[in-house]
Amino acid sequence: MKKIAIFASGNGSNAENIIRYFQEKESSGEVALVVCNKVGAKVLERAGRLGVESVVMSRDEINDRQRMLGVLDSHGIDIIVLAGFLLMIPEFLIERYRDRIVNIHPSLLPKFGGKGMYGHYVHEAVVASGENETGITIHYVSEICDEGRIIFQARTPVLPSDTADDVEKKVHDLEREHFARVIDETFCGL
Ligand code: GAR
Repeated sequence: MKKIAIFASGNGSNAENIIRYFQEKESSGEVALVVCNKVGAKVLERAGRLGVESVVMSRDEINDRQRMLGVLDSHGIDIIVLAGFLLMIPEFLIERYRDRIVNIHPSLLPKFGGKGMYGHYVHEAVVASGENETGITIHYVSEICDEGRIIFQARTPVLPSDTADDVEKKVHDLEREHFARVIDETFCGL
């Protein structure tokens, strides 16, 4: 069984979808832990409701090699999934989990990526730039923010009348449709 840790900072709709997917589907993957850097984040409530253990860790604790690897090792974590996680991942974690950490980004990278580009800011930038399509990118995490090898992209049209909220909804739909399946196919075998 491949054990997955989901790192999330806020709402956690992707985390919930991934947890449900692996609970409902016969797969060799299992979400064993949610790591969150915000006390009171909605993702913690979602994990609790679904019976998945969660831990709140401060930025300093996440950046503390012994502490962070200790938490992951004690849960036997094989794969890390970033799902709306807003802190930078420390290098020791990228090295230890090389090609075993994935992130989802709510645009068609390399467009609208990089530091400060997350969540609603991405959708606002897409609308402001007059793009006629956007999408999601699932990629390995490397030392450079949003530049790791791309595993999967999916596209959706942006209409001239679309607001950033409209775009966000379309992107969330794509995330719900694809993210868990891509994790499963990439890491847990078919
Ligand atoms: C998702 O749309 C995800 O793609 C995005 O944050 C949202 C989190 O939603 N991630 C980034 O922008 C990373 N740069 P959720 O908490 O409901 O899953």
